[in-house]
Order: sequence, then structure tokens, then C-alpha cells
Amino acid sequence: MEVPSSSNLSQSSRRLEGKVAIITGGASGIGATAASLFIHYGAIVVIADIQDDLGHSLCETILESHKHSNPTISYIHCDVTREDDVRNLIDATISKHGKLDIMFNNAGISGKDFGTNLIEVDNEDFKRVMEVNVYGALLGAKHAARAMIAKNTKGSIIFTASLASMMGTEGISHAYTASKHAVLGLVRNLCVELGQHGIRVNCISPYVVASPMLSGELPSMEMSRVEEMTHKAGNLKGVVLRADDVAEAAVYLASEEAKYVSGLNLIIDGGYSTTNPAFPLCLRGAF
Ligand SMILES: NC(=O)c1ccc[n+]([C@@H]2O[C@H](COP(=O)([O-])OP(=O)(O)OC[C@H]3O[C@@H](n4cnc5c(N)ncnc54)[C@H](O)[C@@H]3O)[C@@H](O)[C@H]2O)c1
Repeated sequence: MEVPSSSNLSQSSRRLEGKVAIITGGASGIGATAASLFIHYGAIVVIADIQDDLGHSLCETILESHKHSNPTISYIHCDVTREDDVRNLIDATISKHGKLDIMFNNAGISGKDFGTNLIEVDNEDFKRVMEVNVYGALLGAKHAARAMIAKNTKGSIIFTASLASMMGTEGISHAYTASKHAVLGLVRNLCVELGQHGIRVNCISPYVVASPMLSGELPSMEMSRVEEMTHKAGNLKGVVLRADDVAEAAVYLASEEAKYVSGLNLIIDGGYSTTNPAFPLCLRGAF
């Protein structure tokens, strides 16, 4: 049996050493936390987003907070729904860093239609959610794969899906649920094709994270209150899902520890999706 040596252990704290990573939607929420964590584990990070001021100031904050390790992090404006932007993002990363190992397609929107019904669905909002969450994810994977194949890089392509990739939920928009199911479909199909090139393709499906996306949905609610509610509704007690838990999952999928993991929907929900509390709740209410 192989026992981890102290040198193995110190290597594990730099699990992404020298790997070049792009994180879309990296200026905020889960993506911003992932940028910081990827740097912590030794990666070279390129943040891509449409929130330019936030992206630049995040780079400065991360550079300052990790200055002991002299990190390499930069920001590039990229609207994931514009192919020219995505092509430029990948090409600029290759010309600056020489390769691309990790493409974290994390940018996403919830849309405006939360809580509305099918008859009142906003068609333009539906199209925009599909455009950002699905088409944007496709473009990210397409150009990342182009660069990885050209350089013969055994890369890792990761998407942020959602629990909405595998279940319907009252109050979650049809567009969001449809888009995240489509992301999972993309993962499964791309993993088949790109496996021929040694490129792994996976996604992460978190339960609720109190991120800026959610504060847009629930503007009148403190994020601490959101966390209280999600804890109450959650299956796993005594712990609250945070952006860093999702980012750690991305690190795993990006790292050598996951070198044979492809086609996986890594669900981070404390077991929420394994159970349906509706009947026990009704039963409890009946007595
Ligand atoms: N917060 C949750 O509860 C939750 C749960 C499951 C999945 N997710 C998914 O996690 C991902 C990150 O969301 P978050 O919660 O961190 O929200 P967030 O709003 O904090 O981050 C999303 C980022 O994507 C960027 N973005 C939006 N449209 C873009 C575009 N066209 N091009 C480039 N960037 C764009 C935004 O500017 C923002 O920085 C999303 O894909 C979301 O669907 C979130």
C-alpha cells in the first residue's frame, strides 16, 4: 500500500502548479472564489467576464492577498455569447501563457422569470438564458478544445451546471432548468468526442449558494437569511454550502487526482436530490 509521504502532502497543497486556467464568470460569486482558490493551488489564472471593473479589482485583491507566492492572474473582457470574444480569450491566453490546461465554463445567469408560469413566460428572457448558459458554454468548450487539441494538452473542461440539471423545482424558471439540463447534455456528448484527445469534460451541480446571482433574485433578503433558509430546507444539517465548496470541487476536477474522471455530474447538495420530503412533511402535518 502506498502511504502519502510528506513530499506528496506538500505537493497536494500545490495541486494545480503551473496549470493555466480560464474561469468565465470569474469576476463574481463562485467564479471569483474559484479564481482565488486556483491561485492558492498554484495555477496561472485568467478571469473572463463582462464586469470589467469588478474583474480588474478582483485581480488586484488576489495579487495582494497571495503576494508571498508571486501569483500570475489577469482579467480579459469576454462576453461568452460572442464568438469573437471567446476566440480572443483563448488566443490571448495561449499567446501569453503558451497553453491552456483548464477551462472552467462557469458564467451563467438565472434570467428574470423566476416564479412566473409558462403562459406568462418572457420569450426574450428564455432565449437570453439559453444563450448565456448553453451557447456560451458551448463556445467556451469549442475554443478551449481547439487550443488543447492543437497543443496536445490533456486538458480539463469543467462547467458549472446546477441541481437544476437533473430536477424540476417550483419557482425556478423553465429557462434556467432547461439550460442546465442542456449543459449536462453537452458534458456527456463532449466527453465522448474529446476523450479521443485525452481531454476530460465534467460539470459541477451545486445546491443553493448565497451569491450575487441569488441576491439579484431576492433583492429584499439578506444573504444570511437565504443561507438560513437553504440550511433549513437542506438535507445535510450543521453545514451551509458556500462558494468555496463549489470551487474545491472544480479544483478536484481540474487536478491530477481526477485524471480518469470524465463525463461526471458532480453533485454538491448534501444529499438533497436523493430524497423528496413532500410526503413526510404532509404526514407530519396530518398529526
Ligand atoms: N448561486 C447558486 O445558488 C447557484 C447554484 C447552482 C449553480 N449556479 C451556477 O453557478 C454559476 C456562477 O453563478 P454565481 O452564483 O457565482 O453567480 P454570479 O452572478 O455571482 O456570477 C456569475 C458571473 O457570470 C458573469 N456573466 C454573466 N453573463 C455573462 C456573459 N454573457 N459573459 C461572461 N460572463 C457573464 C457575471 O458577470 C458574473 O460575474 C452560474 O452558472 C450559475 O448558474 C449557481
